[in-house]
Amino acid sequence: MIIAIDGPAGTGKSTIAKMLAENLTGKDGRPFTYINSGNLYRAITLGCLRQGIDPRDPKGALDYAQKAPLVYKGGRLHLGDEMVEPLLHRDDVDRAVSPLSAIVPIRHVVNGHVRQIARGLNAVVEGRDMTTVVFPRAEYRFYLDASIRERAKRRFNQGVSRLNLEAIEKSIAERDAIDRNKEEGSLMVGPGVICLDTSDLTLTEVYAKLIGMITEASSKP
Ligand code: DC
Repeated sequence: MIIAIDGPAGTGKSTIAKMLAENLTGKDGRPFTYINSGNLYRAITLGCLRQGIDPRDPKGALDYAQKAPLVYKGGRLHLGDEMVEPLLHRDDVDRAVSPLSAIVPIRHVVNGHVRQIARGLNAVVEGRDMTTVVFPRAEYRFYLDASIRERAKRRFNQGVSRLNLEAIEKSIAERDAIDRNKEEGSLMVGPGVICLDTSDLTLTEVYAKLIGMITEASSKP
């Protein structure tokens, strides 16, 4: 079974997707795997930077993406033998990932990896186009949204950014504009996708709402 979740950054979708994967058991009695598709774009970006390839160069970045040794082991993303997840939110990766993710053939490479990782599994997959392009027939499809102000506040309160609230808000708006205007895989609410505005909800409330709708899997008490 596939549960697909999309939405812009700062809506709590990674936390919620992880919570669902940890707590749900499929109809077949097997657990769920959590797959963060943004991490695949980030790992390709990291690999490009390490090899001196400009992540904005469509040809160079695609050449690298096609041979990048992306492997999912133990639910963690590896580049070859190296577990790279702790490196994926570095500032240099953060800056370059958005333009790289707009390169259409690279999207096809990532989509292939995500489908391959999820094949035959119960999986919670999250990103920007999981509900529309990659798994349009997923059993459950959700879109989590929140106002820019609220998302900026959440990021500010994490204490990891050195920017002030206004600057965070501006950078979120810029990232949204790129994500919503891609040639392919743009961020949008697809037909039939359940949309939830999380601006005034806690994570627990969002989780409870989603669990209430996922009736074909059982959750831990
Ligand atoms: O979710 P995230 O911030 O880690 O995603 C990193 C970048 O990749 C972000 O610019 C959006 C993009 N992305 C995408 O285009 N499609 C996806 N399915 C997931 C992420």
